[in-house]
Amino acid sequence: MENQEKINLYEKFDETTLEKLLLLSQKYEAVGQDLKTHLEGMLYANHLTYWHYINLDALLSLQIPRTSFPDEMVFIVYHQITELYFKLIINDIQQICQKEDSCDAQLYLRNLKRVNGYLRNLISSFDVVMANMDKEQFLKFRLALVPASGFQSVQYRIIEILSTDFKNLVAPVHRPFITRDTTIEEMFPKVYWKQGAIEKETGKKTLTLEMFEEKYGKILLYTAREYRNKNLLILFENFIKEKSPLEKEIVEQMRLFDTLMNVDWPLVHYRSAVKYLKKKEETTTIPSTGGTNWQKYLPPRYQLNIFFPELWSDEELKNWGKG
Ligand code: HEM
Repeated sequence: MENQEKINLYEKFDETTLEKLLLLSQKYEAVGQDLKTHLEGMLYANHLTYWHYINLDALLSLQIPRTSFPDEMVFIVYHQITELYFKLIINDIQQICQKEDSCDAQLYLRNLKRVNGYLRNLISSFDVVMANMDKEQFLKFRLALVPASGFQSVQYRIIEILSTDFKNLVAPVHRPFITRDTTIEEMFPKVYWKQGAIEKETGKKTLTLEMFEEKYGKILLYTAREYRNKNLLILFENFIKEKSPLEKEIVEQMRLFDTLMNVDWPLVHYRSAVKYLKKKEETTTIPSTGGTNWQKYLPPRYQLNIFFPELWSDEELKNWGKG
């Protein structure tokens, strides 16, 4: 480099830029890397584009219908959108539940507000999108999906585990027998969704459940163990209740979350099932793809999933899911 060029270089790079270079060199040195190599790599690397960053081509190639009915695309994309929202919900709750021995009340409140926003979107869009598919097409393409079912949504189960004490997810008939000493391993087989997917005639697990357990059983059990002492409910009890000035606002958001997740979404979902799977003027229903007795399984008034029972009055608990 010529002298004149060197002088220009000093003029071009102000102190802050040089400081950043120093910090960068320290960052790379700390891990045994050479800053110069990385800088040269930056010279050759392509500029980032929007489509690479969000992986658009891959994202748009993930919708693969099993039939030629156009509304099957609506069904697939809407499920994927829901799963992406579930991912956001999990991400937000995980941020709150990082530690067993502390909890940031501001973060608790902010993230719970966000979670409730996602759920509101899901509930209102469910009524628009899922409730307005072509019924004739739906009743045909769904036959190509058996035995797959939204029942197998692992993220839905993870949201539940991260939100509450595991005993609140045990089927209502088994709940009274759970004590403080009951282990996760003892409660796990009694979780409401396992109990709901048993064939009435044979007493056997549905194939949908068997496949789900095989794929995700261990992960769910591990997650339940990991979150036993750092789920939303226990963190509220240990660090927010009577300790934080934000308690009142947080309680409001927790009650809203409980309602959106355990009443409003299940109701809008159940209404769609009724719309498509209940035959008019007949008492019989069309079997679901997942094989549950869905009319008894889906309604929140039977399921009685409540993340934060302590935040509701006896009257409210008695009328759960009936509104
Ligand atoms: C017309 C649309 C839909 C119908 C008719 C329907 C029907 C059903 C039925 C009957 C069940 C009970 C399990 C079974 O026997 O298969 C179920 C479970 C479930 N579905 Fe859907 N579903 C629809 C849309 C969706 C969408 C868009 C999602 C989003 C991911 C979804 C997620 C779930 C979940 C998470 C469960 C388990 C619920 C629980 O265990 O409490 N469903 N669905």
